[in-house]
Parts: sequence; structure tokens; C-alpha cells
Amino acid sequence: MSWQATVLTLFPEMFPGPLGLSLAGRALENGVWSCTAQDMREHGLGRHRAVDDSPFGGGAGMVIRPDVVDAALAATQVPVDVPRVFLTPRGRPLRQQDVQRYAQGPGLVLLCGRFEGVDERVLESRKIEQVSIGDYVLSGGETAALVLLDACIRLLPGVMGCEDSGVEESFSEGLLEYPHYTRPAVWDGQNVPEVLLSGNHAAIAAWRQTQAEEITRERRPDLWSAWLARREKNGAAANGKNGQTDPTGV
Ligand code: 6GU
Repeated sequence: MSWQATVLTLFPEMFPGPLGLSLAGRALENGVWSCTAQDMREHGLGRHRAVDDSPFGGGAGMVIRPDVVDAALAATQVPVDVPRVFLTPRGRPLRQQDVQRYAQGPGLVLLCGRFEGVDERVLESRKIEQVSIGDYVLSGGETAALVLLDACIRLLPGVMGCEDSGVEESFSEGLLEYPHYTRPAVWDGQNVPEVLLSGNHAAIAAWRQTQAEEITRERRPDLWSAWLARREKNGAAANGKNGQTDPTGV
């Protein structure tokens, strides 16, 4: 059975979108994953197929009705053990460990909202998780859903060319990745760091580790603190490459 993405949206034309190209697109063609976008408006009410209404208590914007979401969800016939995710800036932040868990499962049902939101009751009673992809506001959940799917699909078996490249990368051990260089060895008057041309693999590994630590400390004090705390906890044996667990998801 292939990994199954089911998207509930008012803009089904947005899927698979960019995920129909490149690595994800080839995997889609090869049946590694599938993508079904369901138009929630098909479950809208009345002559105008209304999916939303004004918020109780007043305020700006419109709220998607719980009965419409429920009908759309039921119509998918996706088993209840498939995680259901509503993309919203109010959700818990998405992390790589969540992505790994989703990628290991049977797939995802993704609920995309436009307007102000979705009636809270259907999220509660239908066990729909609320997930955000970052601290900024998008015009709708569709682009966030594409981000989440991209992150999952690249982890599916056989999608990435090189098995290794999914492992040694930013976040996999809690540090941002070291910088990369390729030919020409001199470009625009700038040399590649000399150690990388030395052929000394131990020295290269040590340099990369130091770079990863410095970059993480500068750019992501939150990840750096978590990494330091974990190194502390793991004691003297921890030197940054002892198979620690992912701190980015704690
Ligand atoms: Cl998941 N949805 C929307 N609309 N905005 C977001 C987001 C999600 N995550 C960050 N901003």
C-alpha cells in the first residue's frame, strides 16, 4: 500500500501542484504515494453550497461550518487510524520528528482552511490535530499542506536517491548543517576552506562539527540551548556524534 495524502480544500486545483514535479512528482508517478484533493464545497449547504458562516460572538471573517467538514471527512472513507491534520497558525509547531512519524504511517488527511478558521467542535470530536508550519500567517492552509506533504514524501522509502542524504542534514542531530563548497576551488577571489582540500577525513569531520555548532549558536539559540542541555545530560561520553536522539522535537 502506498502512502496516501487526502486533502480537504476549497481549492483542489492547488494539488499536487509543485509536488507533481521533481522528486515528489516521480514518486507520485511511481505509485510511492497518492494524492486526492476533495472539494469541500461539494458538501456545502443550500443553493450557494455555503461552507462558512459568521462567527458566534461577533468579529471579522467567516468560520467553516462543522457539519460541512464532517460530511467532507466522512466522504473520504479514509480509515480513522490515518492522522488528521488541520493546518493553522494556531497549531502546535511542526517539527522533523512529527514529519518522521507521519511518513512512517499510512498517510495523512489534511484539512485546509481559508477564512478565519474552522468550528472548534469538529476538530475536537473528529480528533483533528492542529499544526502550524511557522510563526507567520499564510492566506490559507493549502501552501502549508504542500510544505507538510513535501517534508513527508522525501522521507518515504525510495524517494531520495541517496539513502544517506536524509540522515546527515539539518535537524537530524539537533544542529544546523555545516556549509558546503564545490568547484571551482577559487571563485570570485575566494578560496574554499583549506581543510576540505586536505584529504584528512578526521580533520574534515572535526571542522564540519565545529562549523555546525557555531552556525547553530549564532542562528538558532533555541536549538543550541537544547543541544547543550542534551550534551550535558549525556555526560562526558557525548561529543556530538554519539547517536543522540532528535532534540528539535522535544
Ligand atoms: Cl498551517 N496555516 C496558515 N494559514 N498560516 C500559517 C500556517 C498554517 N502555519 C504558519 N502560518
